[in-house]
Amino acid sequence: DTARIDISIDTQRPGAVLNKNIYGQFMEHLGRGIYEGVWVGKDSPIPNKNGYRLDVLQALIDLKVPLLRWPGGCFADEYHWRDGIGPRNERPRTVNSNWGGVIEDNAFGTHEFFEFAELVGAQTYINGNLGTGSPKEMVEWLHYMTSDADTTVVRERKKNGRERPFKVDYFAVGNESWGCGGNMTPDYYADLYKQYTTFLKAPENNQPKFIASGGTDVQTNWTQTLAEKIKRSGNVRMDAISHHYYTLPTGDWETKGSATGYPEEQWFSTLQQTLRMETFITDNVAILDELDPEQEIGFYVDEWGTWYDVDKGTNPGFLYQQNTIRDAIVAGLNIHIFNRYAKRVQMTNIAQMVNVLQAMILTDKEKMLLTPTYYAFKMHIPFQDATYLPVNLSDTPLYQHGDDAIPALSVSAAKALNGDIYISLINTQVDNAVEVALPQVSQVKGKLLNSRDMDGHNTFDHPDNIHPTDYTATEVNGSTVISIPAKSLMVLNLGQL
Ligand code: AHR
Repeated sequence: DTARIDISIDTQRPGAVLNKNIYGQFMEHLGRGIYEGVWVGKDSPIPNKNGYRLDVLQALIDLKVPLLRWPGGCFADEYHWRDGIGPRNERPRTVNSNWGGVIEDNAFGTHEFFEFAELVGAQTYINGNLGTGSPKEMVEWLHYMTSDADTTVVRERKKNGRERPFKVDYFAVGNESWGCGGNMTPDYYADLYKQYTTFLKAPENNQPKFIASGGTDVQTNWTQTLAEKIKRSGNVRMDAISHHYYTLPTGDWETKGSATGYPEEQWFSTLQQTLRMETFITDNVAILDELDPEQEIGFYVDEWGTWYDVDKGTNPGFLYQQNTIRDAIVAGLNIHIFNRYAKRVQMTNIAQMVNVLQAMILTDKEKMLLTPTYYAFKMHIPFQDATYLPVNLSDTPLYQHGDDAIPALSVSAAKALNGDIYISLINTQVDNAVEVALPQVSQVKGKLLNSRDMDGHNTFDHPDNIHPTDYTATEVNGSTVISIPAKSLMVLNLGQL
C-alpha cells in the first residue's frame, strides 16, 4: 500500500512545445508492415481505397498520426527509388535481403507512400539510401519529389500521375550506418554525410529537415563526432541527429523474452530497460548542449519500442509480436521522457506502425485489431503541439522487485492548444494502486487504460479485451483524490487552471 502523493502542476513555468511529431510512426518494407498491413492493392477482396485497406486507414486517421517515416530502417539502405515508380506491373522484382529474403514487387513506392500520407493527414519522413546508393541517385530522388522545375526527372513524375511536388518534411541520409547501413565509423559517415548533403537541393518552399544517422543505446560517440565534424564544416545542413533504442525484456538479443505469458520479473525488467531511454537522451543532449549551445541540432529518436521474440510459427524475419498492457505502459513511459526533453527531442518514431514490433495495429487477412499501444497513443493526442508543464510530486513512490526498484508513478502534464491542462499518469506496479491528490483542480475527466492480467491483450477473436474507459472524478474536501489502479495509464483533462 502506498501513501497519498500530492501533485502540483506549475502553470507559471511552461517548458518547450511538445512537437506533435514526437508521436510519429514508422513504416518499413518489413514483414506485413506495408504489404497486407497498409497496402492490399485495388483488386483485393479486403475493402480498400486505391489499394490502401480502409479499416487501417480509418484507425490511423482517428489516431491523428502526425508523421510517417518510410521506407526503412535497414531496408532504406538497399532501396532504389526508381524500382518503385511507373506502371506497377512493370516494376522490378527484388529481394528484401534484410527481412526474410522475400520478394519485393515494389507495388508500394514513392507515389503510393505520399498518397497514403496525404490520406492519413501526416507529415512525411523519407530515409535516403546511403549504403548502396550514390549521390546522384539520392539527389535525383529529392529532386523528383520536391521540384517544380521543367526537368526530365520532374516530367517523369508528372507522367507518373503527380503534377504538384510532394511535400518532404524530413530527409535522412542513411540509417544505422554503424550496422546494417554500412558498418561505418562515425568519422567516415560524417564525411559521407557532408559529401551527399552538399548536393541535396530542394526548392526554398519545400525544404526538408536533414537528419544525420546517429548512434544506438548507450552510444554518444556518434553524436559527438557528427556535432563536431558537421556543425563546424559550415556549408552543409544537419537539422538533427537520430538515435535508436529498443527495449528488450532480458536485454539480450539472443533470447529477448516473450510478448505474452511472461513472469513479473520480465514485466519489471522491461519497464526498467525502457527507462534507460532517459539516460541515453541526457547523455547525448549534454554533448549537444556543449557543441551546439544555439540549439540548432535536434535529437530525434527515430526508432524505439519493444522488441520481443517473434510470435511462434511466424517468419522470424517479419518481427511480428503481440502487444499487451505492458507495451502501453512502455509507450507511456517513453512519451513522458520525450516530453521532458522536448527542446531537443522534437521528433520520434515508434517501431513500427502495423504488424511489426510494437505495433499500433495488427491484421490477419481481413481482420484487424487495435493494440494497447494504439490506445496509449490515442489518449495522448491532446499532448500534440501542447506546451510542457513541470509537475511536482510530494513523494516518489517506488516499485520494488527483488533488489531493484523503479518509480511506481510517472507523470507528465501539458497545456493543450485549446488552453486545457492535461495530465498523464502511469502506475507501473503489478499489484498496488497509487493514490494521488490534485489540489488545484475542480474538473477531472478522461480515460483509463488498464488490465486485470499482466499480459492483457487483444486478439482477433476478442479485439476489445483492452480498451480505454471513461474516468471522471469530483472534488472532495477541496482536493481531488484519484486512485490509479495497478498496471494502468490515465490521461485526464483538468480544464483550465
Ligand atoms: O525496426 C526494425 C529495424 O531495427 C530497422 O530496420 C533497423 O533500423 C533497426 O535495426
